[in-house]
Amino acid sequence: MCGIVGYVGRRPCRDLLIAGLEKLEYRGYDSAGISLLADGHIDTVRAVGNLSNLRTAVAAAQNGQPREGAVAVATGDGGARIGLAHTRWATHGRVTEENAHPHGDCGDQIHIVLNGIVENHSELHAELTAEGHGFTSETDAEIVAHLIERHYDGDLTEAVRLAFGDLRGHYAFVAMHADHPDVLVGARKECPLIVGIGTEEAFLASAIPAFLSETRSVLQVETDEIVTVDAEGASITDPSGTGIAREVEEVTWDEDAAEKAGYPTFMMKEIHEQPEAVAETIADRLPTLDGVDLSEVDIDEDFARSVSRIVIVACGTSYHAGLVGRYAIELWTRIPIEMDIASEYRYRDPVVSEKDLVIGITQSGETADTLAAMRLAKERGAKVMAITNVMGSQATRDADTVLYTRAGLEIGVAATKTFTAQVAAMYLIGLWLAQVRGTFPIEDVRRIIAELKRMPSMIEQTIESVDDRVRAIARAQADQRFFLYLGRNIGLPVCLEGALKLREISYIPTDAYAAGEMKHGPIALLDESTPVVCVATESPVLEKVLSNVAEVRARGADVVAIATEGSTVVEDAADHTIYIPRTDWVLQPLLAILPLQLLAYYIARRNGLNVDQPRNLAKTVTVE
Ligand code: F6R
Repeated sequence: MCGIVGYVGRRPCRDLLIAGLEKLEYRGYDSAGISLLADGHIDTVRAVGNLSNLRTAVAAAQNGQPREGAVAVATGDGGARIGLAHTRWATHGRVTEENAHPHGDCGDQIHIVLNGIVENHSELHAELTAEGHGFTSETDAEIVAHLIERHYDGDLTEAVRLAFGDLRGHYAFVAMHADHPDVLVGARKECPLIVGIGTEEAFLASAIPAFLSETRSVLQVETDEIVTVDAEGASITDPSGTGIAREVEEVTWDEDAAEKAGYPTFMMKEIHEQPEAVAETIADRLPTLDGVDLSEVDIDEDFARSVSRIVIVACGTSYHAGLVGRYAIELWTRIPIEMDIASEYRYRDPVVSEKDLVIGITQSGETADTLAAMRLAKERGAKVMAITNVMGSQATRDADTVLYTRAGLEIGVAATKTFTAQVAAMYLIGLWLAQVRGTFPIEDVRRIIAELKRMPSMIEQTIESVDDRVRAIARAQADQRFFLYLGRNIGLPVCLEGALKLREISYIPTDAYAAGEMKHGPIALLDESTPVVCVATESPVLEKVLSNVAEVRARGADVVAIATEGSTVVEDAADHTIYIPRTDWVLQPLLAILPLQLLAYYIARRNGLNVDQPRNLAKTVTVE
């Protein structure tokens, strides 16, 4: 995820801004840039790669041929006292210097940095081009500089407010203007934006660590607010221009807590980042309710119509995301789907045809077995698509085409937000294929898209609403020696993933089974001490699941059920019920997994374990 730092005040700010970016490095990025304003002129330096490349580029601009000299002006006591800096995690457009932020308007008077996604960028790009604006990057962010230019009439805050009204999506941005050397203006729609208030100076950043070493006084900017910041402080308005009073708060975090946004671990922070990860993944791919826009993916519609089979290859959590996709895509498109664990597929001499679409799912894009499986399929003539979270990773180079998840860097070894983003990506593929092949009525497409668009807020609501109950169950069950997970249909991959989470971070043995298989063996494991976690959300197989729950309880086992709100039959059948919001049953995995991630988390924490770095595990498995 990208990082924003802005400064306005009395001190030369070039080094302050780069130091701020260093504090945001943990978020992950692939390029960075800085714009400084001095003597009525803005100069920008951008670089691909890490911040040492940016430092080198800044030094080169200063010592070599500075463009009009502003970077040189920015050094020492005579330096710029206002500027913007950014670390970019590429979403729109490749990882290049041109696509790195900040971006400018046509006259290079207005510079902006942006986090998030502008969903209506294509239509705005067309409008602005017709009005004569010229673009220098492939990004959606550059649109914002030109929109501010469109509305600018001497008042930067007003221009930002009007530009904000033209935008759709979720984003936070900060702008500065060469004619206003003492003011930064920011706007927030969902993505975070925070003001740091110092003595005769202020910061505007996407996260507190960016300025925590300079000040602990903060002003939170809420969603749908515009903020104007100068050395004396900040003023906030709503999108209609009405002022909003906000108290300055003092942050008590130390630097370690700040890096985790106040959460005790990266895993918990990443669990809470799932609304944003899903929102970014679906954003501009669902521009309207009428269909999916996957124009960025290089698969022509003729091929999509002629695909006779889909094969999904992946490892671990990514494999479970693929399994969710299998149920959804098969249901919506009627294309037969095969799932394979990548390390099995690559060594089993698979039959491959030119009409196969092989989807390799790998958040890191570097897992050796998944890469090998994808290469084998490609050599044998299949069309290969990668679903990955990392631009420029090996999977993106090996595949014929790529669909990116946009979950941001995941630091915790146990995958959480990348899983939900992968599941969202699978739904996008399923809907797109159904639309191209005409296998799903338009009213169903519209209904599912509307539900997907609600998902980020439903995920947020679920994480909050289940927390107390899950914590209480974790407290009661943390000493158990074995957990069994049972589910059917779309609930099965949720169980497999929930069981993997508990196993890998708590070291408690778990098993996950198709509930219908229970009587063929695993039922022998059950006694009064066995907790059985069951996904019993509403679906065409709920009755079947409940009869399995009855069999389990007849053996005295303690059943924890995940159920759909209002589904009282489950409460009557289980010992403990955790409710999640109602949505289309095929989309339930995006919500049902949340209590299971939290259950694993609280059990492991209760047992004093390091959830961010479980023993024997690495975040990326690059060896065969
Ligand atoms: C579990 C987990 C692993 C990964 C697996 C594949 O929490 O993170 O099971 O899912 O190693 O990794 P990627 O997706 O990078 O190919």
